[in-house]
Amino acid sequence: MAETSGQPIRIGVDAIRDRKGGTPIVCLTAYTYPFARLLDDHVDLLLVGDSVAMVLHGHATTLGASLDMMIAHGKAVMRGSSRACVVVDMPAGSYEDSAAQAVASARRIVAETGCQAVKLEGGVEMAGQIAAIVAADIPVMGHIGLQPQSVESDGGYRIKGRTEENVAALLRDADAVERAGAFSLVIEGTVENVAADITRRISIPTIGIGASRDCDGQILVIDDMVGLTVDRVPKFVKEYADLRGVISHAAARYAAEVRDRTFPGPEHVFSAKKKEQP
Ligand code: KIV
Repeated sequence: MAETSGQPIRIGVDAIRDRKGGTPIVCLTAYTYPFARLLDDHVDLLLVGDSVAMVLHGHATTLGASLDMMIAHGKAVMRGSSRACVVVDMPAGSYEDSAAQAVASARRIVAETGCQAVKLEGGVEMAGQIAAIVAADIPVMGHIGLQPQSVESDGGYRIKGRTEENVAALLRDADAVERAGAFSLVIEGTVENVAADITRRISIPTIGIGASRDCDGQILVIDDMVGLTVDRVPKFVKEYADLRGVISHAAARYAAEVRDRTFPGPEHVFSAKKKEQP
């Protein structure tokens, strides 16, 4: 990270691209101001993923995300961070129809949030959109392999790279995203050695999720990583904390103290005499 007069400068997409083959790039999703504040010192990149639709808004799939939703969460994450490179996901329906639609949506995201880059799902079939956004001077992160926005048309969350035909398609996708000018590529839910082969094959960094430790970086959904996810936790997640347990224990203690009138205690109430701050 560069610094001028004590002010940290955000990690840019060029610095992320330059990490190809170097120290692994640490990425997490973030959707809110407090999480961005807590994570900013520890990560290289924060992704405002369209997983926000499931994680915070309770939708069944990421198809519940809208451009307005992504922009609102993008603004919160930008307010809460000063160091990490911030990438905002383009939601389903905001880019697939045409290059013009993709550029207009990407311009809106960057203008309203101030983020460094956008991410979109798709390989060969989205290369035109990626090239057009990059030509409009907006950096793009690609996303291939398991693509959650296609989960309905795909018939569920299916791991990629298990047939020769699919491996060939993944290699074509990775090449197309690189050629279109993306600065990095998320590989999700893909057989380990295929993700490692793609990482060796292309010159931009790969960011793995359910992929391979040989990727140039890793990303997890923050709520999965800290043990906050209340529904199914995918196999590729490692829970580094148990915030579900911490929150339900705190709620149980609070409920008991409200019911037996031990909360609020004398230290939590105001007397008529002293001038106190709330
Ligand atoms: O939306 C998201 O959280 C993502 C990551 C899983 C890469 O796209």
